[in-house]
Amino acid sequence: MCGIVGYVGKEEAAPFLLDGLSKLEYRGYDSAGIATIDGTKLVVEKCVGRLAALKEKIDGHVPKGTIGIGHTRWATHGRPADNNAHPHTDGAGRFAVVHNGIIENYLPLKEGLLKKGHEFKSETDSEVVVHLLADVYDGDFEAAVHRVLTMIEGSYSLVFLSKDHPDRLICAKKDNPLVIGLGNGENFIASDIPAIISRTRRTYILNDGEIAVVHRDGVDVCNFAGERIDKKVFEVNWNAEAAEKGGYEHFMLKEIHEQPKAVRDTMSQRIAKDGKSVVFNELKWDKDFLDSIDKISIVACGTAYHAGLVGKTYIEKLVRIPVEIDVASEFRYKDPIIDDKTLTVVVSQSGETSDTLAALKEAKRRGAKTVAITNVVGSSIAREADRVIYTWAGPEIAVASTKAYTTQLVAFFMLALYMAEIEGTQPSERIAELIAALQKLPDDVSRTFEDMEPIKTFATKYGFNEDAFFIGRSLDYNVAMEGSLKLKEISYIHAEAYAAGELKHGTLALIVKGVPVIALATQKSVYEKTLGNIKEVKARDAVVIGIAAADDTELAKYVDHVIKVPATDELLIPILAVIPLQLLAYYAAVTRGCDVDKPRNLAKSVTVE
Ligand code: AGP
Ligand code: GLU
Repeated sequence: MCGIVGYVGKEEAAPFLLDGLSKLEYRGYDSAGIATIDGTKLVVEKCVGRLAALKEKIDGHVPKGTIGIGHTRWATHGRPADNNAHPHTDGAGRFAVVHNGIIENYLPLKEGLLKKGHEFKSETDSEVVVHLLADVYDGDFEAAVHRVLTMIEGSYSLVFLSKDHPDRLICAKKDNPLVIGLGNGENFIASDIPAIISRTRRTYILNDGEIAVVHRDGVDVCNFAGERIDKKVFEVNWNAEAAEKGGYEHFMLKEIHEQPKAVRDTMSQRIAKDGKSVVFNELKWDKDFLDSIDKISIVACGTAYHAGLVGKTYIEKLVRIPVEIDVASEFRYKDPIIDDKTLTVVVSQSGETSDTLAALKEAKRRGAKTVAITNVVGSSIAREADRVIYTWAGPEIAVASTKAYTTQLVAFFMLALYMAEIEGTQPSERIAELIAALQKLPDDVSRTFEDMEPIKTFATKYGFNEDAFFIGRSLDYNVAMEGSLKLKEISYIHAEAYAAGELKHGTLALIVKGVPVIALATQKSVYEKTLGNIKEVKARDAVVIGIAAADDTELAKYVDHVIKVPATDELLIPILAVIPLQLLAYYAAVTRGCDVDKPRNLAKSVTVE
């Protein structure tokens, strides 16, 4: 999920590797490492912490050699630690590998390799790749890499270094970025363009399913089946700043578009092979455990709190256990009714939010069992909780949380399914139906982007309004709250979210001619009721933009604009319905000339009370 670099050329590799990694630092990472071939020796240096710590460690004995690989790690499997940092090597020290992404089937592969006598030095999923390589290697480096790629499942960009072949690097890509920089008598590899643009602007952008063998004076690209591919040179004309954002104007927009992958990564390892049940190796709960719980308490802040609201509905609907939810800053001081029969679920993208951490400690102090849903491996909240469910959204840089929210929803949905299966609270056909809908979800998320042009037009048109209202019922109301927070925090437009049925108890007084109202009507079970409330605001001449499922034929008759998202189960549709709202906030902020990624007065990680 973080940074990869590679160099093969005529100069010393280490200076480029360290410089390239420093250009990827903006993404955030927890450890760093490099490997080179010095004569006939494979040299690896790595450590937890910043690049500066690595530089200090190797001061005076920088690894020598004109070929090498480097990595900044953003942990997904195994806490940030020296031994978990990349590059990883095989037992004989013949190969080194760096990996971004997740090897989904690493556990069975690791078991097989352990039986064959391979010794593992890390807790990462990535280390299996290098042992597999050593295992299948019979002198032909390329053939061995091809073989390994048929054995691993998941998402990856990988770079392989072999001390038997000091003239080449081999790299492969699936669902994680990888580019090759073309030089003169030297070539570069990087996970992202900023790492190489100070050295070359001529690149090959690798596609999924491609392998490149990178020599000093040439690059051969083929597909996983071994067929040669004629790559076109892509001349990068982005400046360094645009390159960091992958060509998007802002990190927020980039992260919004990363949601199909973030959702896929978060769910893929947690669905059983037969597609019939949800697996949480990190929880291993059983019926006795769940029977010992009489309520669940969810605690979080901001967007994570909004994810918790949806989580509450998932758990209550599917598991029938009562769920309370609090914002963490309130929970701390409300003398919460929590005991050893409570399961407290804290939610935090960063894992460092001080209110949430304090709430977690308070719940523990009162004897609650605890689980954290977080995006950052080894974060304070991850360390403090009894159990951790990681969202694998990858680093989120924009202050406004987007892909963290959708992956938190996926985590809650899977948690509810997992508990429902253990408790037997849902018929197996319903579970199967929901898992089938979940498996379709990453594609549904991708398809949501196909029809978003009207959102841009709407945002541009109404971006200068000072107020906006978001309404919906049931889960639509929860999504409305998230949409309203997004709009407030980045565009500074005063926005309010209301349960649609609550409007008439006061807020309707504010609905006058021309006020923009974003009405969510994706929940079939309350559809007619929502429609009634929409008619109420339309009757007061509000400008209404409706969000509906693709199979909706009614809403367009009552609103000014309709935005459609793919139809799916009404429990999952919030994950799609939030996307137009994220884009609405984004384009409104752009229209108003706001600093989208760093809104005024706000910080990405709120470590103060
Ligand atoms: C989201 O857009 C916000 N910037 C903010 O509400 C955030 O979700 C909140 O501060 C919680 O952060 P956490 O998930 O890192 O704990
Ligand atoms: N999954 C790997 C790990 O946890 C790679 C992480 C990354 O992409 O940085 O080590």
